[in-house]
Amino acid sequence: MCGIVGYIARKQNPNSLKLGIEALKRLEYRGYDSAGFAFWDESKKDIFCQKAAGRITALEEKANIAVNAVALSANPLILHTRWATHGGVSESNAHPHCDCQNNIYLVHNGIVENYKELKEVLQGEGHQFRSETDTEVIAHLVEKFFQGNLEEAVRKALPLIKGSYGIAVIAKNDPQKLVAARLSSPLLLGLGENEYFVASDPSAIIAHTNKVIYLDDNEIVTITPDNFSILKEKKPEEIEWKLEDAQKGGYPHFMLKEIMEEPEAIENSMKGRLLTEDGTARLGGLQDIVTRLRRAKRMLFTACGTAFYASLVGRYMFEEYAGIPVEADVASEFRYRKPIIDENTVLLCVSQSGETADTLAALKEMKMKGVLTVGVVNVVGSTIARETDAGVYNHIGPEMGVASTKAFISQLTVMALLTLLLGRQRNLSLVKGQRIAQDLQALPEKARIILTQEAKKIKEIAEKYYQYNNFIYLGRKYNYPIALEGALKLKEIAYPIHAEGYASGEMKHGPIALADQNFPFVFIAPQDSVYEKVVSNMEEVKARRAPIIAIATEGDERIKTIADDVIYIPKTSEMLTPILSVMPLHLFAYHMGVLRGNDVDKPRNLAKSVTVE
Ligand code: F6R
Repeated sequence: MCGIVGYIARKQNPNSLKLGIEALKRLEYRGYDSAGFAFWDESKKDIFCQKAAGRITALEEKANIAVNAVALSANPLILHTRWATHGGVSESNAHPHCDCQNNIYLVHNGIVENYKELKEVLQGEGHQFRSETDTEVIAHLVEKFFQGNLEEAVRKALPLIKGSYGIAVIAKNDPQKLVAARLSSPLLLGLGENEYFVASDPSAIIAHTNKVIYLDDNEIVTITPDNFSILKEKKPEEIEWKLEDAQKGGYPHFMLKEIMEEPEAIENSMKGRLLTEDGTARLGGLQDIVTRLRRAKRMLFTACGTAFYASLVGRYMFEEYAGIPVEADVASEFRYRKPIIDENTVLLCVSQSGETADTLAALKEMKMKGVLTVGVVNVVGSTIARETDAGVYNHIGPEMGVASTKAFISQLTVMALLTLLLGRQRNLSLVKGQRIAQDLQALPEKARIILTQEAKKIKEIAEKYYQYNNFIYLGRKYNYPIALEGALKLKEIAYPIHAEGYASGEMKHGPIALADQNFPFVFIAPQDSVYEKVVSNMEEVKARRAPIIAIATEGDERIKTIADDVIYIPKTSEMLTPILSVMPLHLFAYHMGVLRGNDVDKPRNLAKSVTVE
């Protein structure tokens, strides 16, 4: 999704443009299709703006930055990566956008929902538009109110906008200021040594500072070379991520690095939280609401995409071991439904980024109704993390690959911890709780075994299958959501392969019609309580000569006689198998994507966090 970087330094910094471009490149992982920047050039007493469709390298080539960067002092400076929503991918639609006078330059993340109405009014007043974007109306609105003070003009313009925005604005006729503001789109102020940053994502600036102030909705910050002002008094917070977390560390892709970090993700999400002797978990972020959680009679889970599949696994866990009725729904549906709630209902929002628009909207809707809200979020300080009443952080560092991998593993781990906590508050026995806790403790090692022992085989299987165009993934009970996740990962990474995930028991209600030698079936078939059922589905598919790939429990020789290819995972308790069974599917999707020649870290049309509806 779109990315914003802003920079302003106390003294002229000859490297500022280079620094800004590097920061912008750290946002490339979010997905984008054009880029641009604008800055005040003191020597020319003017704003220089450059935009390009395509990659940031195209922008660099156009601006000939390699030659000019050292010579220029860009201060203040705003930069942007755009992921097209309103208007196609073109230089004119790329940000920054400016007003009629070439005075106001602005970058924007989000959507102006009432842009058509605003544009009509502004055009009626004589404003000339140069792009098809919704963003450009903001530049003209600021122009309309500009009387020499940029901050004041922004302050007057913003209330007219319906929708969401994170913006950074500079003005030729008020050149010593960078004004930034947010509404439902993340934005932070970075406090460096004699320099300030604005960014939509902490990864952009961690190379320079870990001291940040997260802007709240409707907040406007005005930054000058010497100071900054926000209406509210706010304390800086620390970003806990390290620069290495946002680098590939020798791997060809972030996605592969992050899959390899999955065992560590389990460890990091459990660190200091598992109380094995008591068969429970202690989650600091929930301390204040433990008694309210004890009273909970019903849980609503909401999330999008992969995070939603983690919620589906959580539903099986909570119902089986904590005895709490759970309803799980994708946030884009949930936000428009009328779920039945009472004072003992709890909403659980799962989100890696903490910025997903639908999840946030569902959360706000439930908050308004007085429901207790809990987040499972990775990005510290993100909107969902701050809007929920309480929550659990994943603590796995930034996830840079667009496809969620290690975050999913961590979300499942947190679900297991929550199950222990809620289960032990209710009817889960000490012995059973201890057994789950022990199995959890043993999990990272088992995860490592998969990534070392099975990695070669998974690659070979991908080499055998990558030219097939369609796949179906089947699993049952705890592994039904894993079938959904495996299929999602394959289609988003190895497109144009089409993949479907299904509950294995549904096979005979339709999908079996697809079974023939050209249509591979992937079965998730660990030795659990529904093993026999899944195996008989496999037999039915085999009888129709469809190629079968199976994920099975180590030592299961019977599966070998049915499936064409088997990937083994170590044995663990049934509720934890999804954490292991999904890992080969992540790796399989990765290799399939690479073999298909796709950009696996930035799959086409996708964005890392979907901050617009
Ligand atoms: C798939 C994927 C997406 C996200 C979804 C929710 O690999 O990454 O489906 O899981 O967009 O994102 P978060 O977790 O940031 O709310």
